[in-house]
Amino acid sequence: ARTAHGDRGTVLDPGDTAGGSGSPGTETISAAELAEIGLRFEVDGEIATIVLDRPGKRNAQTSATWSALARIGENLPEQVRVVVVRGEGPSFSAGLDLSMFTPGGTPRQDSLATVAALDDDGFQRQVAEYQRGFLWLRRPDIVSIAAVQGHAIGAGFQLALSCDLRIVADDVKFCMKEPALGLVPDLTGTKPLVELVGVPRAIEICLTARTVGAAEAVQLGLAEMAVPGDELAQAVQDLAAALLATDRAAATATKRLLQGAPGRTLEEQSAAERAEQAARIRALFASS
Ligand code: CAA
Repeated sequence: ARTAHGDRGTVLDPGDTAGGSGSPGTETISAAELAEIGLRFEVDGEIATIVLDRPGKRNAQTSATWSALARIGENLPEQVRVVVVRGEGPSFSAGLDLSMFTPGGTPRQDSLATVAALDDDGFQRQVAEYQRGFLWLRRPDIVSIAAVQGHAIGAGFQLALSCDLRIVADDVKFCMKEPALGLVPDLTGTKPLVELVGVPRAIEICLTARTVGAAEAVQLGLAEMAVPGDELAQAVQDLAAALLATDRAAATATKRLLQGAPGRTLEEQSAAERAEQAARIRALFASS
């Protein structure tokens, strides 16, 4: 059963599961399983919150984190329109759990050494599975907001990038560490990064693995807003409330339209506007 959590809505009991009935073939995930992985999932009306909850390890992520994120996405309750992703403790996420990354060491079952031993098809499937945990955050029927404080390194930076919007605390430190470790960023972060800052700045940020702070993040468009750390939760809540004030069908259609714009010519985009508007106007007048 769901339990009331103060006046902030509901959280899942250990025996409860994330999501509603789930789509065919997808399994819901229990709060106890999530806790073991270092995640929490809370639903309060139309707002769902995913909490990275391994503060003692600076919310480092494992392959289990990514699989769990995918399952949360697959089973997201239908009423949810805003998904907040945040991290417990001083940092949003220190990225890949370095115990998975042991070149030359003794591989554990979920280590990158195990992935390295897969044939090409197996490798593709495995990494695509990891990426599934990030990609659903762009779905047009929801708006995802990353609330980012402290370090957001590697997979942490990419998780923030996989959200539609980023609100950051003034101590934020974004860092794309992968190239410095001999890797590439492959958790779906390169496209949003380039779309936000352009290819030259993305090259500079990734290949130097330098830290981007709050003021620069806002200036580059990496964050919508920077606020003092103790105002982060409120700023995210205010933004969620403002987003929820818009009609859901119009919000979904508009997000779909905006997301498609970079890949279309002006003429194609104009046609897409007409198609979305036809559906909207017909729906509005059919119900009036
Ligand atoms: N993996 C596993 N454990 C981590 C971790 C990580 N990525 N980051 C921090 N921790 C652990 C530390 O080992 C430490 O654990 P113990 O207390 O048990 O020793 C605990 O978290 C606290 O760490 P610090 O004392 O270092 O905390 P800090 O606040 O002073 O520093 C930090 C935070 C700057 C994030 C620092 O911990 C750090 O640099 N971590 C490593 C970051 C990193 O290199 N991540 C990999 C990015 S690449 C990537 O993500 C690749 C990919 O997607 C494929």
